[in-house]
Amino acid sequence: MSALQLTGLTVERGGRAVVRDVSVEIPAGQVTALLGPNGAGKSTLVLAIGGVLRPRAGTVLLDGADLAGRRPERIRQAGVAIVPEGRRLLPDLTVEDNLRVASYALTRERAQSGRDQVLELFPQLGQRLTATARTLSGGEQQMVVLAQALISQPRYLLIDELSLGLAPVVVSRLIPVIRTVAESGAGVLLIEQFATVALGLAHQAHIMEGGQIRFSGLASELRDQPELLSSAYLLRGSNPEDPKDPEDPKTPGAGEGTVAPAPGRAP
Ligand SMILES: Nc1ncnc2c1ncn2[C@@H]1O[C@H](COP(=O)(O)OP(=O)(O)OP(=O)(O)O)[C@@H](O)[C@H]1O
Ligand SMILES: [Mg+2]
Repeated sequence: MSALQLTGLTVERGGRAVVRDVSVEIPAGQVTALLGPNGAGKSTLVLAIGGVLRPRAGTVLLDGADLAGRRPERIRQAGVAIVPEGRRLLPDLTVEDNLRVASYALTRERAQSGRDQVLELFPQLGQRLTATARTLSGGEQQMVVLAQALISQPRYLLIDELSLGLAPVVVSRLIPVIRTVAESGAGVLLIEQFATVALGLAHQAHIMEGGQIRFSGLASELRDQPELLSSAYLLRGSNPEDPKDPEDPKTPGAGEGTVAPAPGRAP
């Protein structure tokens, strides 16, 4: 089976290796979960795979080609799309225009088929095409963010924090979409603060801590043996029905392209 193969990835930030020698396989047609506490290096890993940060060492192999250190457009073109943590829409543009922005590099035919596909995945957006992004609910905004990544019909989709700032009922509507994307053949890497959400979708799971992979195995092992989730963070925040801080205003909608670590989740 084909896969996006990360080998020995090391990424430095502020002169410090915050991702260290990470090797992970993201198989096609499956969801792979990446869990870990605040500051583990999850977002950094995703940014490095997407070409936003340049890895210090390691390879990102797809079909025998090494994408590590390539430019983001080239990586996207190769079929790898990322949804960075806290990704925002252009608030004054309509849904239609936000989708158009995401498809500008595609041929007219591919843009059209991508648009058709994302509107099939998110029928709700079809009713909201002329609405400006700032008037959308948090859930609708997250749908557009996902649609922007999916419009290029990527072979691999890396999602950094699916449920951030969203109500449980909204998260429960996104879950089947992620499942459909994987079932249609894409490889999905899902970073998710709620371990139960990620483990419910994933076939394989990896736990990252201190920049390194500490556990790799079947998601079902972690589901059946929650004690393996040794980090207190993972246990405490593992269920979206039981949010740590329901007042936490981490709703999408402010700013553009923020990739800062999510506030308010550290112990
Ligand atoms: N721009 C930056 N400059 C220097 N260090 C950074 C920068 N961004 C993040 N870091 C550091 O890199 C490490 C990894 O951060 P990263 O955001 O990748 O973790 P994470 O696992 O995504 O955490 P979270 O669950 O909070 O999103 C942390 O120690 C963080 O402080
Ligand atoms: Mg992060």
